[in-house]
Amino acid sequence: MRTALVTGGNRGIGLAIAAGLVAQGIRTIIGARDLTNGRTVAQQIGAEAVRLDLQDKASLAAAMDAAGSVDILINNAGVLFDGSMLADPEHYRASMDVMVDGPYHLIRLAEPHMRSQNWGRIVNVSSGWGSFAEGLAGPNAYGVAKAALNALTKALVRDLPPGVKINAMCPGWVRTRMGGASATRSPEEGADTVLWLATLPDDGPTGGFFRDRKPIAW
Ligand SMILES: NC(=O)c1ccc[n+]([C@@H]2O[C@H](COP(=O)([O-])OP(=O)(O)OC[C@H]3O[C@@H](n4cnc5c(N)ncnc54)[C@H](OP(=O)(O)O)[C@@H]3O)[C@@H](O)[C@H]2O)c1
Repeated sequence: MRTALVTGGNRGIGLAIAAGLVAQGIRTIIGARDLTNGRTVAQQIGAEAVRLDLQDKASLAAAMDAAGSVDILINNAGVLFDGSMLADPEHYRASMDVMVDGPYHLIRLAEPHMRSQNWGRIVNVSSGWGSFAEGLAGPNAYGVAKAALNALTKALVRDLPPGVKINAMCPGWVRTRMGGASATRSPEEGADTVLWLATLPDDGPTGGFFRDRKPIAW
């Protein structure tokens, strides 16, 4: 049985991803900042939970140890701050920690097991706001972090063995705390492309950027 770790799996798109993985018979672990809440949510969907705070580097290794061998890593957690990136270096730092450095360190921690079996699936939940082609349209720190996450996705193909696939995706505009109540998609719709990338067959794509299961421009 495969094991999956979903960061930010306690609510929003991450929770829909976790539920979708459980439904496919995958052992699924939610990474949550608040472990008590994470455990409660995990129990409701048949998953497990570990404490994971992407701004606390020590918690990353502890979470991976607690999870055991992770075959499928979903870097889903995100933060979105309005305002000037220059005026607010703390929000810039948090954006980079949660959406770039945290995913990088988790990939490093997951990679030895994936390499040993030459099988792994890494999905980076990004955004069209991190796309140069779409104009880096969102708040600055968010767009810069998602663009860096996209770059990480493309560059890491060179460092990973061929059986380990890494892809980025945009879920569209989704009704979550981040997306707001007016958003056009449900969390389940937002999770669909993640679930597809998490379970790609051996001849599936790697190093790509997708929305609605179709490639989109960086
Ligand atoms: N919603 C949209 O329209 C939309 C569009 C494009 C891309 N996305 C991307 O989709 C992903 C999920 O977003 P969402 O809409 O589901 O957002 P959300 O409902 O706001 O959930 C964000 C998740 O990230 C977690 N998180 C934040 N900071 C963290 C940290 N330091 N350590 C660990 N976890 C942390 C949150 O945990 P807590 O509960 O502890 O705060 C929560 O589980 C994000 O990467 C987002 O950028 C969303």
